[in-house]
Amino acid sequence: MPDKKANIAVLVSGGGTNLQALIDAQRSGILKSGRIVLTISNRSDAYALNRARDAGIDTRVITKKDCGSAAEFERRIAEALDEYGIDLIVLAGFMSILSADFTRRFERRIINVHPSLIPSFCGEGFYGLHVHEAALKKGVKVTGATVHFVNEIPDGGEIIMQKAVRVRDGDTPEALQRRVMHAAEWKILPAAAEKICAEMIKDGRI
Ligand code: GAR
Repeated sequence: MPDKKANIAVLVSGGGTNLQALIDAQRSGILKSGRIVLTISNRSDAYALNRARDAGIDTRVITKKDCGSAAEFERRIAEALDEYGIDLIVLAGFMSILSADFTRRFERRIINVHPSLIPSFCGEGFYGLHVHEAALKKGVKVTGATVHFVNEIPDGGEIIMQKAVRVRDGDTPEALQRRVMHAAEWKILPAAAEKICAEMIKDGRI
């Protein structure tokens, strides 16, 4: 059935350049086995929401503050995912750790992009620019990005794709972040999303 596509929700918190890479990949046909039908942000001021709206994708803002508890926060996210019949959840700069209850419920249906070569510079406290600060502090010569399945261990799920990026003399965390995004994240996140959506269709999981 060539027209069958996985319904994708993208969860965001910030600028949304990885969401943009997914939108662009959908337009160019790199992402063809899935379609982005929903963007959920845990911050009302996330620029990613503008990117989704510009692309005609439905958006929801669900904040922990409005929900009162982590359990209610996740219940409302799950409710929105059910409403849209979501098959694959993509964490694209989503800066909130999901509970074991949540990740078990969506086993092998949640993927995340992380800006290092896991198992380096990952786990709790390693997010965004901090990851690149730590890589520069350690003096590594090669870093990169990883897309992995999400389980109950932060950044601990099975690795789907990785891409290496060289560190340059004089790199700042910002310069390195930009290069890792451009050379690695924006390429492997859409490629991994396509791979998993295609596998879900092939396995009859959707
Ligand atoms: C990206 O670099 C992403 O890998 C990272 O946050 C940035 C979000 O940018 N995620 C993590 O650190 C998760 N542990 P974006 O909002 O422009 O996609």
